Parts: sequence; C-alpha cells; structure tokens
Amino acid sequence: MTTTEDTSSLGTGPFRAVQKGVPSERRGITPPAITPPAQARPGHRAETRETAGPGVETARARALDVLRANDGGGFTRPSARLYPHQWLWDSCFVAIGLRHVDVERAAGEVLSLFVGQWPSGMLPHIRFCPAIGEPYHADPGLWGVRDAVEAPPVVETSGVTQPPLVAEAVARVGAAMPARRRLAFYRRVLPGLVAYHEWLYRERDPENTGLVSVVHPWESGMDDTPPWSDAVRDLAPAKVRAVRDAGDLDVLEGLRRDNKAVPAQERIAADELFTLYELTGRLRAVRYRFDELRAAGLPSIRDVGFNAVLVRANRQLETVAADAGLELPTGLLRAMRTTRDAFRNVLAGGFPRHQDARTGRLLPDETVAGFLALYAGVLPPEQAGRLAGQLFDARWTGRYGPASLPFDAPAFDPGRYWRGPVWPMVNWLLVDGLRRSGRVAEARRLRDETVELVVRSGRTYEYYSPVDGGGHGAPDFAPTAAVFLDMIYAE
Ligand code: GLC
Repeated sequence: MTTTEDTSSLGTGPFRAVQKGVPSERRGITPPAITPPAQARPGHRAETRETAGPGVETARARALDVLRANDGGGFTRPSARLYPHQWLWDSCFVAIGLRHVDVERAAGEVLSLFVGQWPSGMLPHIRFCPAIGEPYHADPGLWGVRDAVEAPPVVETSGVTQPPLVAEAVARVGAAMPARRRLAFYRRVLPGLVAYHEWLYRERDPENTGLVSVVHPWESGMDDTPPWSDAVRDLAPAKVRAVRDAGDLDVLEGLRRDNKAVPAQERIAADELFTLYELTGRLRAVRYRFDELRAAGLPSIRDVGFNAVLVRANRQLETVAADAGLELPTGLLRAMRTTRDAFRNVLAGGFPRHQDARTGRLLPDETVAGFLALYAGVLPPEQAGRLAGQLFDARWTGRYGPASLPFDAPAFDPGRYWRGPVWPMVNWLLVDGLRRSGRVAEARRLRDETVELVVRSGRTYEYYSPVDGGGHGAPDFAPTAAVFLDMIYAE
C-alpha cells in the first residue's frame, strides 16, 4: 500500500515530461504528442452521425485541454472550481481516458488514489489537496477524519467511499501498457486494491450476503436520486424541517456554499444538502464504523449501481491478479462468488433497485443506477436483453442516452443533477456493459449519441439535458472529457 504523498515517481510519461515552461495554472500536465486516432490505429472506421469530422477533432482537442487544465499535480480535479480535489471514481474515469494519450500519466492517476487509502483498506471518495487553495463546501473540517478515526490516513480525506471502479481502471490502463511494464504496474497496485476489496466485504457486508451496503448518497456516485433522498429525509435537522415546512427554502439557499460556480437549481436542493451535512456529522460521531452506524439506525442501503460496479471490479481484479501471477486470498474469492450469485437475482423484484439493508425492503423508485446491472455483466442473457430494451424505451431515452430518472418520474427535472440529466460517465459504463453482453448495435448507438452530445455542446459538461442536450453543472468536467476521449480512441 502506498502511504506517502510523494507522487513524484508517478505519471512520468510525456504528459508530464515537458511541464517546464508551461503557464503556472497548467503546470503538472503538458501537451502530449497526440496522433489522431484514425492514423494511430489502422483499421479505425469512419464514424456515423456526428461522431467524426472536424467537430470531433475540435472536441477532442478541447477534452485534452480540460484534462491538462484540471491537473492538480499527478492527479486530476474533476472541475477546477466546483470539485477542486481528487475524487475516487472520477480519477478512474480519467485514467481510462488518459491511457490513450499518456499511459504513464494514467497509471499515476490510479496510483495517486492510494495516497489517501486508510490503514483499514478504505479508499475515500475525496482526497483533499490543501495546496490547491480553492474552497470546497464539504471540506476536511466537516469530515473530521483525523480526530474521529483511530488509525487515520496520512493525508486529509473524506470518511466514505465511492463506486469501486479502481480495478476496472487498473485493467484498462494495464491493457494499454507493454507486458513488462504492465506486470510492474499490477504488482505495485495490487496490495492496495486487494485491501480495498477486502475492506468492502469486511466492513460493509459482515453477514456475507454478497451485496455491500452504502451509507451516504455521496458513496453512490449519484448524489441526489429520489430513493436516497427518501432514505435520509428523517435526518433533516430541526431548522431545515422548520424552513421546509414553512416553504421558505430561500433562507437555506443563502447559506449554501456549493453554488458559486454552478446555479443552485442545477444542484441538489438546499434542504437535502443540509441534511447530507447532518448525515456526515452523524457518521463522524460513530467514527465512520459500520457496526456503530447500524446500531445508531443510520441508513444502510444495498445500492444497485455500487454493487454492479463491484461485480465487474471483482472480475477485473481476478484478471489483473492472474496476469500478475498472484493469488487472491481465499476468503476474498469466496466473497466475490457470493456477490456474483446474489447479483444474478437482481431482476427478481422487477427493475433493478436498491434494497434497504435494515429491512430487506426494495426501494420503490427507479433510477438509471438499475441499468448498471448491464455493466455488472452477470445477468442471464434474456434478462439482459429485457433490460437493454427498457434502456432504449422512450420512457428513459430521448436522443442523448438515458436520463438519470425516467421522464415520467414525479421528481424528473432535466437540468438538475441526478434528477433527469444524462451523465456521460454513466453512458460509458452502459456502452461497455452492452458491448460485453454482445449488444454491439445498441452499444454503438449509445456511444454515438454520447459523442454527439459532447461535440454539439462544444464543452465537456458534468451533465446534459436529456430533452435538448443543453449542458449543465460544471463545464470543463474532467470525467466527461475522459470518457469522451475513450469513446473516440477505443474504437
Ligand atoms: C458529484 C457527482 C459524483 C462525482 C463528484 C465529483 O458529486 O455526483 O458522481 O464523483 O461530483 O465530480
């Protein structure tokens, strides 16, 4: 496990090599020598719709600029103003995109995540980088990790995790490396990666059900979907309830600090945001320990998206370990099998949904997280076919890929966060899942729609309206830039 913040040996490829002489705001990342994919890869096919031609070239150059500009010094900030630190699954998407232009920098992106790893094995969803100096609303003071946790990490981090996409990123980056370099990379990353998967099982599935629990909506990666909003509603502090009951949410709007870069109506609602701060405080009070938070009656949800990512990550972890000639611990292998078996039944209750781990009840609301069952890759073929059919149904998909909530959901809002917008990083997972399940035409369609969305917009937004393709949230969002690049290059 890497336990020092020294990332100087990470990411030594051309992306870093020429950094002297670049403007200081760009330092840490440098213009790579990019070969257009059509020339770099013989046999690269001409594109359909708006996924080839000058528009794509311009968007590609811009996406690379976004990754350079968001470089924080060996890792990538999702957005220089809105998310000015390192996020777990964002860095995984970034590595997947970066591997096409600078595989060493991509490897460095993955390895830098382990700087924030807790001695317990937990990989936190945010690793704070104080040097950056940009204010962030949910800062280290809110998490209080160093005081709360018995064995804290060596750097400031949040106290929760995020979808475990790391093994996927490791396998993708490794696949782009020459064999000997790949072996060294895998051997370096494996101890920390295994420790993370072991932590997920030990801490979040102590009863060996196969499905791990998620304890904060920020862990789901989809921060404000209705099932999660319902799960945390009762935790609203008294002041928030009073303001909500009085229909006076403007008071809270004035207090929030996350709306300087992006309009509040595109973000989580203010009462929910303050409820999430409250939840964070409660988790801090129980030292982020699963046994204690359960005893305190705090939410614990078997999030379907998170578990879908875990199923796939387990598979990739097995591949990576086999390639490196290392055996995974028997207990971990057993847990991984249990997960696969448990997840195969995810459609038994109809559309894949989250489950309340406290009661066993399936949460009623459908969200795009359910479709990540396709990404998990273990559904029986006819079930996968049924789910893929639903994905492209007009209830979910307009011109630009699936909305985060169905168009007919009462909470649907085309420009607000996870309440309607299309998220390119989710589309990446779905394209990959469709492709692996042999649904090549559907994968192609969704890939083309996503590329078109970004090209037309001219900027890599955090999310887009599923109605008119308009960009919302943070502009110049690194994960969108990265998955766009992967979709362009990985043809
Ligand atoms: C938002 C997204 C989450 C992402 C984070 C940083 O919170 O919901 O998925 O990781 O921003 O980009």
